[in-house]
Amino acid sequence: MIKIALDGPSGAGKSTVAKAVAKRLSIVYVDTGALYRSIGLFIKRLGIDKSDKESIISQLKNIELSLQFKEGVQSVILNGEDVSGLIRTGEIAMYASAVSAIPEVRAFLLDTQRDIAHKNSVIMDGRDIGTVILPDAEVKIFMIASPEARAKRRYLELIEKGEGCTYEGVLADIIERDKNDSTRAVAPAIPAEDAIFLDNSDLDIEGTVNKALEIIFSKVGAEDIK
Ligand code: DC
Repeated sequence: MIKIALDGPSGAGKSTVAKAVAKRLSIVYVDTGALYRSIGLFIKRLGIDKSDKESIISQLKNIELSLQFKEGVQSVILNGEDVSGLIRTGEIAMYASAVSAIPEVRAFLLDTQRDIAHKNSVIMDGRDIGTVILPDAEVKIFMIASPEARAKRRYLELIEKGEGCTYEGVLADIIERDKNDSTRAVAPAIPAEDAIFLDNSDLDIEGTVNKALEIIFSKVGAEDIK
C-alpha cells in the first residue's frame, strides 16, 4: 500500500492529474476538498453565516460524513445523503473556504481522511495532506503553476462556458486568492519539507501526469503500490 500526498494552491490542476494518476496506478483518488464543501453545504442549509465560527463549531456534532468509492468514482455522503452533485458551485466553494479556516473543522475531518489512507492505496489531493494528514506519505508532491498559466486556463474555461470576463480580471482574482490561501493562519497551502515540486506552467495534462508518475516511481517501486 502507498500514500501519495498531492498538495498545492487552488487551480493548479491537482484533481485532473490525481484522477489520471489514480487510474493509471489502480489506486483510490481522494478529493478532500469535497469534505470541506459538504460541511459548507450543511451550514448554508441551516442559514448559518459563513463567518459565524461558534455556530459552525457547535453544529459539528450533528454532521456525519463519509466518502464512498465505486469504480474509482468518489461520492460524499452527508448524514446519509449523497451530496456529491450539490457541492460544486461557486457559492459552496466560498462556504468551504470559510469553514476550512476553522481549526475545529480541520480536526473533525482528520480521522475520516486518515482512515481512508489506512485502508487503501491512495493519491489524496488537498492543502495539508503532506504536512498534517499523512506526514508519513511515501510520496509528497506540491503542484504549482504560475498565476499567469492558471489565469489563462481559467479564462478559456469561462469563455467556453459563455461567462463574461477578462484575462486581467481572472489573473487579479487568482493572485488575491493565492495570497489568502498561503497566508491564512490555519493549514496554509505550503509544501512539506520533503515535498517534490511539480510546476506545470508549461506542461499540458498528459505532460503533467507523466511528470507526476516519474516522481512517484523515483520514490517507490511498482511492487509497493498494490
Ligand atoms: O479543492 P477544493 O476547491 O474543493 O477546496 C475547497 C475549499 O476547501 C478550498 O477553500 C480549500 C479548502 N481545502 C482545505 O483547506 N484543505 C483541504 N485538504 C482541501 C480543501
